[in-house]
Amino acid sequence: MSETIESILDEHRSFKPPQGHQGNIASLQAYHSLCEAFSNDSDATWKDLATEHLNWKSPFSNVLNQQNAPFFRWFEGGTLNLSENCLDRHIDAGLGERNAIIWESEAGEVRHISYSELLANVCRAANAMLTLGIRAGDRVVIYMPMIPEAAITMLACTRIGAIHSVVFGAFSPQALKDRIEDTQARLVITADGGGRRGGVHALKPNVDAALSEGCQSVEHVLIVRHAGNDIEMKAQRDLNWHEALHAESEHCEPLAVDSEHPLFILYTSGSTGKPKGILHSTAGYLLWARLTMLWTFDFKPESDVFWCTADVGWITGHTYSVYGPLACGGTTVMYEGVPTYPDPGRLWKICADHDVTIFYTAPTAIRALIKAGDEWPNQHDLSGLRILGTVGEPINPEAWMWYHNVIGKGRCPIVDTWWQTETGGHMIAPLPYATPTKPGSATLPLPGIDIAVVDEEGQEVSDGGGLLVLRKPWPSMLRGVWGDDQRYIDTYWEKFKGKYYFAGDGARRDEDGYMWIMGRVDDVLNVSGHRLGTMEIESALVSHEAVAEAAVVGRPHDIKGEAVCAFVTLKGDVDDASAQALATQLRAHVTKEIGAIAKPDDIRFSNSLPKTRSGKIMRRLLRDIAAGREITSDTSTLEDQSVVQQLQKSR
Ligand code: WT7
Repeated sequence: MSETIESILDEHRSFKPPQGHQGNIASLQAYHSLCEAFSNDSDATWKDLATEHLNWKSPFSNVLNQQNAPFFRWFEGGTLNLSENCLDRHIDAGLGERNAIIWESEAGEVRHISYSELLANVCRAANAMLTLGIRAGDRVVIYMPMIPEAAITMLACTRIGAIHSVVFGAFSPQALKDRIEDTQARLVITADGGGRRGGVHALKPNVDAALSEGCQSVEHVLIVRHAGNDIEMKAQRDLNWHEALHAESEHCEPLAVDSEHPLFILYTSGSTGKPKGILHSTAGYLLWARLTMLWTFDFKPESDVFWCTADVGWITGHTYSVYGPLACGGTTVMYEGVPTYPDPGRLWKICADHDVTIFYTAPTAIRALIKAGDEWPNQHDLSGLRILGTVGEPINPEAWMWYHNVIGKGRCPIVDTWWQTETGGHMIAPLPYATPTKPGSATLPLPGIDIAVVDEEGQEVSDGGGLLVLRKPWPSMLRGVWGDDQRYIDTYWEKFKGKYYFAGDGARRDEDGYMWIMGRVDDVLNVSGHRLGTMEIESALVSHEAVAEAAVVGRPHDIKGEAVCAFVTLKGDVDDASAQALATQLRAHVTKEIGAIAKPDDIRFSNSLPKTRSGKIMRRLLRDIAAGREITSDTSTLEDQSVVQQLQKSR
């Protein structure tokens, strides 16, 4: 990033929302009165919204049960089915022929899938799972490219109450195996492969590798034929998706489940240990997916075409590629391929070709496209766009301004949305026709969301930075960490003694009450909008036979936001030439253990790592060295003083 955090905080530009639109929340005043309704009686307000926005099989009797906090329960007593809310409901309203999904492959193949067609396929897939013995509460792991079948399997799970866990297709067999074992999934749904950069990214062989050892819980693997790459089929275990679905009826009764029935598990990295399985439940998540679509994106399902570029392997893909748009009965775009293939105009071409009106992507993608030059967006007709969104990391004002001017032609409000895997949906975001925006600020909390910036003791700070907390439970909050209640408490609630949810981000609130997110305060990196635990990468590195010790930190990176920088000490001595070769090996090793997104950008070897006398690795010092900055930390407690010079030279 060419701008520093100081320059972001020095940002004073403000942009008024465009006039002459009837937004779903039409003015700042309307926003404030909704917020006020929540502060006057939050239960009653949630009750009204949940009653109005969801189709209930049987009504709930209790809005929020806090008795077992922080294990909150929402809308107790109610029953509903998520797929019914996303499909049957709209078809019953006469929208069966509307496009639910517009899918485009990298090679340019396009599929339009109507609500009726989507429902028929979801039912067939749900029936196929039932035939395989999958029942409510069973876990199903989904390891797929960005194809409609990914959304179909997710919805099919919800139709029968199975709990899905989507694993990002670029994760390694080892990462897949860890997730299968943690969820104890009975079924894995995958594809032969996906299309990427003009070639094929094989998936089924990764499943085979993951299942070659352990993973005893898996009984079947269902395989979508998509990329046409050669795969082996293991007798009894492996089944062809198309044959399995063909044999089934296109009717499947939606199972009404309890509001709190587990909906999905999605793994995310933290500062300690292996990734944790974030658990979401049905009603609260669905309500917030729908409301934030309507509020933050001002979604008008009858006229909008919504495109969120995230993969379904991430929470953004869950909530805003699939569940949010479908819960509203609108059209969602799915693209299988890289944004720069065959040229950096690809995203803008897709926007123009499919008349996209609302576009949602990550700052890292914006920065990469800025670099490619304005001629790419300028070749395409972007006049249909009306709202632009960003997510995943702080957006630097320079990128914000480019997005605003070059993509939005100064017409489109930008919604910078702060949220997390754990929050299920947006927490802080402008309302496009109500909230004035400032480049780099996610602006104000959404109605019903109680945000504060506090110091280490939990006292609200009035100016300067602090820690971001949520002071009240919200319907789409995580319900726990799969199989590890204690970790849920320790990670999110321990810090403020059960009073506040601790998000792990630093933030500042300005004089207008606007929120400026300053990044993670824990040992979590944000690389291209993806969360990576430093410890996870360190464990991957030390699992290599040549490595004695490793410390991983982030350093600023123009496009990715943060780059992964690894400091490594080896078991034996190596000369420069073999160090080079070893660095290549270690990168491959991390790719194998976790996936290419975790691959270190820099690897620096040294005889030892800088530690305090009590043996703690001095991470702040390493961050300064990694960034090539002047050293700001106190090195007087450093055990071996010569180590700093060695590390600085080790590039
Ligand atoms: C972390 C959550 C939520 C979908 C994508 C990432 C960072 C997210 C913003 C934003 C500044 C942001 C935070 C957060 N983050 N959105 N608009 N501005 N930072 O989900 O992998 O769960 O990561 O991403 O650090 O804690 P995730």
